[in-house]
Amino acid sequence: MELPDLSGKVAVITGASRGLGAGMATDFLARGMKVALSARSPLPFEDGEHVITRQFDVSDPAAMKEFCAATVARFGRIDLWINNAGVIHPVIKARDLGGSALYQSLDVNVLGVLYGSQNFVRHVESRPGEGVLLNISSGAAYTGISGWAAYCMGKASVDRLTEVFQLEEAANGVSCFSVAPGIIDTDMQAQIRDCKEDVFPNVAQFHEYKSQNMYNSVEHVAKHLLQMAFVPGARPDTVSARIPAEKG
Ligand SMILES: NC(=O)c1ccc[n+]([C@@H]2O[C@H](COP(=O)([O-])OP(=O)(O)OC[C@H]3O[C@@H](n4cnc5c(N)ncnc54)[C@H](OP(=O)(O)O)[C@@H]3O)[C@@H](O)[C@H]2O)c1
Repeated sequence: MELPDLSGKVAVITGASRGLGAGMATDFLARGMKVALSARSPLPFEDGEHVITRQFDVSDPAAMKEFCAATVARFGRIDLWINNAGVIHPVIKARDLGGSALYQSLDVNVLGVLYGSQNFVRHVESRPGEGVLLNISSGAAYTGISGWAAYCMGKASVDRLTEVFQLEEAANGVSCFSVAPGIIDTDMQAQIRDCKEDVFPNVAQFHEYKSQNMYNSVEHVAKHLLQMAFVPGARPDTVSARIPAEKG
């Protein structure tokens, strides 16, 4: 399905210093969109007419609020908000998972998504027209994976949280989706392949993904997300959705 002309549309992407977030930003800019991008480390984009960058931790609610306000002040409105920042670690057996390691993961994977979503839905309510919230989830939201207790808990929470936002905010013009993007060859995949088999028994499968190059390209993921956002007829029937595999 072809995308309409998206020039001038405004998208926020968290976790845009590398990987899927940086790839989506490049794709969106090539379509003439304006982007507001965040991460903790420096972003590979220069601030300018079409780009705002901010360095902060998504678990900092004051910094998230400032990021949203600065984006609206510069671009006038936000059409699409993508909570993409995420972490895979700690990868450890559930029996050994400590509270502080778990909370570090949930701070990013759940609280970061909550804070971003809160700012966006308030913004949409404050101005005319609709807005689309896309929270990046994972196949790990659907099924338990040995060694990934923290990640599975976080991503399952993202799915349920997004469903709650949809129930509460649809009447205010917000369409919310929680999207498992498939596997993409980013630093996160490299971190997964580096895990030891005793804590992550499925590691061989992830080496196989690499050797067979079974990944979704960022362009494939970006196109599906933009269809969800800007082609109402292409939206999934359910709030929690999965992007189809690009290959085989
Ligand atoms: N790659 C896959 O196969 C795959 C599959 C399913 C789902 N996902 C999901 O897709 C999203 C993107 O993953 P990716 O593969 O692109 O991972 P990645 O290459 O590791 O990039 C993660 C991004 O999140 C940012 N980030 C991490 N912790 C942060 C924090 N506390 N505050 C702000 N930003 C933070 C990182 O920037 P800084 O470190 O600079 O802060 C980076 O820009 C994640 O939500 C992930 O769970 C990925």
